Amino acid sequence: MGKRPKANISGISLMAAVSLLLLSLNIAFLLQSVVSQRNSTIFPGSSISPATPNSSYWLSPSGIYAFGFIPRGSDGYSVGIFVAGIPPKTVVWMANRDDPPVPANSTLSLSASGGLLLQSTQSKGIAIPGQTTVSASMLDSGNFVLYNSQQNIIWQSFDRPTDTILEGQHLSAGQELYSGASDKNPSTGIFRIKMQDDGNLVMYPINTPDSATYAYWASNTGGKGNTVKLNLADNGLLYLMNGTGQYLTNITKEGHAVSNILYRARFDPDGIFRLYSYNITKKGDWSTVYASTNDRCNPKGVCGLNAFCINNDQIPDCQCLPGFDFVRVDNKTSDCERSFTAPSCKAADKPSDYNISVVNNIALEDISYAVVTLENSDECEKECMQDCNCEAATYEGRSCVKQRFPIRYSRRDLNSPKILFVKVGQEVMSNAGEPVRPEGGRKEKIRVDVLVISLALTGLTAAAIIICSIFFYNNRRVWLYKTVPADGSGRIIDDVAPRLFTYDEMAEITGDFHEEIGRGAFGVVYKGTMQNGQEVAVKRLDGVSVDGEREFQNEIKTIGRTHHRNLVRLLGFSLDRSNRLLVYEYMSNGSLANLLFASEKVLFWEDKMRIVRNVARGLLYLHEECETQIIHCDIKPANILIDENRCAKISDFGLSKLLKPNQTNTFTNIRGTRGYVAPEWHKNLPVTTKVDVYSFGVVLLEIICSRRNMDQSLPEEEIILEQWVYDCFQAGELQRLIVEGDGVERRQLERMVKVAIWCTLEEPSLRPNMRKVLLMLEGTVEISDPPSPTSFISCI
Ligand SMILES: *[C@@H]1O[C@H](CO)[C@@H](O)[C@H](O)[C@H]1NC(C)=O
Ligand SMILES: *[C@@H]1O[C@H](CO)[C@@H](O)[C@H](O)[C@H]1NC(C)=O
Ligand SMILES: *[C@@H]1O[C@H](CO)[C@@H](O)[C@H](O)[C@H]1NC(C)=O
Ligand SMILES: *[C@@H]1O[C@H](CO)[C@@H](O)[C@H](O)[C@H]1NC(C)=O
Ligand SMILES: *[C@@H]1O[C@H](CO)[C@@H](O)[C@H](O)[C@H]1NC(C)=O
Ligand SMILES: *[C@@H]1O[C@H](CO)[C@@H](O)[C@H](O)[C@H]1NC(C)=O
Ligand SMILES: *[C@@H]1O[C@H](CO)[C@@H](O)[C@H](O)[C@H]1NC(C)=O
Ligand SMILES: *[C@@H]1O[C@H](CO)[C@@H](O)[C@H](O)[C@H]1NC(C)=O
Repeated sequence: MGKRPKANISGISLMAAVSLLLLSLNIAFLLQSVVSQRNSTIFPGSSISPATPNSSYWLSPSGIYAFGFIPRGSDGYSVGIFVAGIPPKTVVWMANRDDPPVPANSTLSLSASGGLLLQSTQSKGIAIPGQTTVSASMLDSGNFVLYNSQQNIIWQSFDRPTDTILEGQHLSAGQELYSGASDKNPSTGIFRIKMQDDGNLVMYPINTPDSATYAYWASNTGGKGNTVKLNLADNGLLYLMNGTGQYLTNITKEGHAVSNILYRARFDPDGIFRLYSYNITKKGDWSTVYASTNDRCNPKGVCGLNAFCINNDQIPDCQCLPGFDFVRVDNKTSDCERSFTAPSCKAADKPSDYNISVVNNIALEDISYAVVTLENSDECEKECMQDCNCEAATYEGRSCVKQRFPIRYSRRDLNSPKILFVKVGQEVMSNAGEPVRPEGGRKEKIRVDVLVISLALTGLTAAAIIICSIFFYNNRRVWLYKTVPADGSGRIIDDVAPRLFTYDEMAEITGDFHEEIGRGAFGVVYKGTMQNGQEVAVKRLDGVSVDGEREFQNEIKTIGRTHHRNLVRLLGFSLDRSNRLLVYEYMSNGSLANLLFASEKVLFWEDKMRIVRNVARGLLYLHEECETQIIHCDIKPANILIDENRCAKISDFGLSKLLKPNQTNTFTNIRGTRGYVAPEWHKNLPVTTKVDVYSFGVVLLEIICSRRNMDQSLPEEEIILEQWVYDCFQAGELQRLIVEGDGVERRQLERMVKVAIWCTLEEPSLRPNMRKVLLMLEGTVEISDPPSPTSFISCI
């Protein structure tokens, strides 16, 4: 088993054939102790299934590759090709990678007329050649092929690569590899590499046009024509060759070992193309022979919008631009949103409302609306400060470039002299009074050493937070399951869990239920004072549908587990004497309904926008971020309460599940309040989080216009708010919707109206989700013109 002759240009197919033969002999020899020699020809009628463990895949003759079911997730399977001879199994190809996994009772069978068919909940073709299949085979090259009666290949997996290229496989003009979503999740991720018709091999983020603006890596072989292919030779040479056999470029170095080494090239989830090798004699792990870049911040789109990437010891770390926060606090690849309210341009004669933060050595997608030539960076900073529309500017080589948001593809690049100035306004006060970002000071030059220290500190803080939350979580469980005192003695520990109270205690707290502060769909609300002086609101539930104490407690636990600054906190509950009482934190500024419709005071535009964002954040948390998804089902101004910091919080979440569906009061025979309920309630369509999005849209309109969604006292065309707003929007007369002089800015008004129309579309699937809504509210994404509210009504 000596070294094979070096690869030669002429007779490449012969070489490939010979080396494949040698390779399979090598592998066969090495693996024969594990896998016995077998005939790998598969005939129509054969089938495999994960339910029969000894036949859930078809092996190649040497046993190195297998075609069949690959476990995915906890109990599902996908069909694909994997390296069977080398543990752990490495997936090199996957059929329908974006389909959900199939159950264990699925079967995959070869049929003469239909090719490969997957039978699970419904049947689906994996490989459908246009002609009769006579046999199929899993080859030792890793290629799965179907043959016709002339032994011609009529279908092969090598023609449909997913993210991997194997020895002997190629990528021809027009073909692309898509990275996987993550190492654990093989579905389509966020990067692509394309063999373009012009002969250039280029990497892009997905959903971008093939244009140099978006490219982050290229083989620079443009103009060489559409016969160029990317190939992987059996000696690990990854190269581009044109139709007449001319080497155009060698991506990897030549001269890697041939014998007993297996190669595969994969476009990895992080957007980097890597060549891996495996030494069959030595066993061990796959090792990386080549990577298209060592800078893991290089792929465009590693971080979300308005975030920038910092390479920290080869690990990419995403950070928000100054004045921005992650949309999802726990997810550093999510987009970033503004953490402050941008004052309107009307007030622009007070430049002190802003500070400018500086980020040095930055690279980003240049989307400018103006370029000014200036002598130094201080002048650029001043220029941006004085231009009300300027939100950020970059300075490099005397060019001061005013940037448009969202800022994309930005990263720290120590070779780039580019400086980024970002305008940072007054921090949002909504977040329970705490400023969101501690920094944002004037002209704070971030230096690399400072950065490293702060990253280390961030790590420590994160660890501390995790430890604390584990501690609290455990404590809370103790509270709930073990030591809830039967007599209810003891004090409320705010951060721990809802406490169980006796009826007598509740009576004492509320002074025998004497001060009624509200009356809603769920029952009466009383004011109370705890022993420690804390003011609370006690809600007596009428018509609870959940009978058993256990079920009720389970629901309460779900509600108690939600902790968010934009949700009213549940402090305790009582189940005594068939009474169902809930104890909430007291919100001193009443409800949004009072503020909007009953108060003499005019709510300023900025306050309105803050409230809208608060509500959106609270809803996003309920929909996506808490342990159990909660659909509120009754979002309306009366359920949005304002605390002493004028921060808006959502109340009554989680209660819709507790109540009888035919609850009366303001209820119709459907849950939710008339006027705010989404159309799908009437149509017996499935209820999703989109019902809350609808109600949010209605509330948003009410906030914008400071009136109720239905007002009979108005002229006929104005009675129904949604209709009226849409008419004004179409006519371009949005100013008719608002009271002049509350500080509203036209651009913002139009944006808010558009968001509201999108949210209140009849067709649920067209409504954005709350995450999108937040981005739209912040102005970090473009909002296209909404369709007519009744378009695409489903005919069910
Ligand atoms: C595999 O077996 C089938 C029938 O049993 C036979 O026709 C075919 O030639 C065999 N193939 C090889 C490679 O041995
Ligand atoms: C393996 O498959 C055969 C049929 O092909 C079956 O008889 C046998 O019981 C199976 N063995 C195991 C361990 O499942
Ligand atoms: C697989 O099992 C599920 C229940 O576990 C059943 O509903 C389904 O019909 C089965 N599918 C097939 C193809 O047997
Ligand atoms: C391949 O490249 C060579 C050298 O550049 C050129 O002469 C030949 O025409 C090319 N072949 C094709 C099919 O483009
Ligand atoms: C690429 O590698 C091949 C095979 O080793 C060699 O013949 C060729 O000259 C190389 N081409 C370039 C452009 O380096
Ligand atoms: C593979 O491993 C064997 C045994 O450790 C070693 O002798 C051989 O040099 C290795 N091959 C390569 C290409 O590293
Ligand atoms: C983080 O956010 C990104 C983009 O929004 C999303 O694709 C990804 O699944 C999220 N990750 C987690 C762990 O939630
Ligand atoms: C700007 O910075 C000064 C000094 O750090 C601070 O007092 C002021 O509040 C900041 N202004 C804004 C809008 O953040």
